[in-house]
Amino acid sequence: MSGRRALVMGAGGFVGSHLVRRLKSESFAVRGADLKTPEFSPTAADEFLVGDLQNIDFMRQVMDGAFDEVYQLAADMGGAGYIFTGANDADIMSNSALINLNVLQCSKAQPFGRVFYASSACIYPAYNQVNPDDPKTAEATAYPAEPDSEYGWEKLFSERLYLAHARNRGMKVRIARYHNIFGPEGTWQGGREKAPAALCRKVAEISDGGTIEIWGDGEQTRSFLYIEECLEGTVRLMRSDVGEPVNVGSTEMVSINELAMRIAAIAGKSIKIRHIPGPLGVRGRTSDNDLIRQRLGWTPLAPLHTGLEQTYRWILTQVSALRA
Ligand code: NAD
Ligand code: GDD
Repeated sequence: MSGRRALVMGAGGFVGSHLVRRLKSESFAVRGADLKTPEFSPTAADEFLVGDLQNIDFMRQVMDGAFDEVYQLAADMGGAGYIFTGANDADIMSNSALINLNVLQCSKAQPFGRVFYASSACIYPAYNQVNPDDPKTAEATAYPAEPDSEYGWEKLFSERLYLAHARNRGMKVRIARYHNIFGPEGTWQGGREKAPAALCRKVAEISDGGTIEIWGDGEQTRSFLYIEECLEGTVRLMRSDVGEPVNVGSTEMVSINELAMRIAAIAGKSIKIRHIPGPLGVRGRTSDNDLIRQRLGWTPLAPLHTGLEQTYRWILTQVSALRA
């Protein structure tokens, strides 16, 4: 490999596989690493190492070489149906923490230009997200900490791990707190899918006038960021001088009922909604973009509708292919 080189850990996942394509479009030589290759299309990486990043020998192999940009996206993650049931807490915490400890352990022998860590909006305190119309997620409100899930606690711990290494070892660390990223080639079935993909699937599966199920009363709120804008925010942050964690998310907050109705409109179907018990997470969440606007002079602006159209179309093809 020659020229600018990037390493993407988690390159077999949703954000990672898109990020590899983005870096290739910028002429980076890219090494990807993951437990698996991407599920929905071939990787664009120049080389792809398959293995477990919890294994320090594999991590050493992955990090061997000089990289201008290292992106650490590998994590044991999923939507509400995976992270809020409680059943996966031990795996989520230990699997993801060990990957991050290994990255930093191996970076002593193999220093890199700069490292990006994908944190989450799930680090924000539950007590600031009880009002669905006015949740608070300014970066400075992360403490006193009270994430509502062990997934959020692990992300907060790992943020601190990277920040400590930045302070004590002069590493250039960049941390994004992603707010519910969605788009084509994201997980859409199997239990780890997030609300946009789950609701696109449910709408795609029914006939006009049919009923879909939604967890809770559907009045809980979220904002959703389309993958292309997530990548733009990610590379802008990586190449900036911003060393503190920054939200990368949308400010277009909608209720989950509203999300379902917007997807139904895109599908050209009228739907009925049945509300059922399920894992809920916080009552309200949206991105606070004051800091990213100040520090990067950029914020995501694309309307939710644009990303939903692309995502629904892709999930419809997946549902149709599965049926066929
Ligand atoms: P994803 O699950 O699609 O990708 C994560 C990848 O990490 C998977 O391909 C998985 O196989 C890999 N991985 C997990 N454990 C591994 C191990 N031990 N060794 C090697 N690879 C391993 O998730 P994503 O949506 O692409 O998310 C990317 C990152 O962004 C994650 O760190 C996630 O926690 C974070 N994040 C994502 C969102 C979102 O809405 N997508 C929101 C907040 C934070
Ligand atoms: N997944 C899913 N599937 N969620 C549903 C469904 C369904 O069928 N029906 C209703 N919901 C509701 C959930 O109960 C939750 O209240 C809301 O939709 C959003 O759920 P998700 O999109 O699954 O997750 P989240 O927004 O609570 O958390 C996600 O975003 C974080 C960052 O903002 C997760 O992906 C986290 O891993 C991520 O860090």
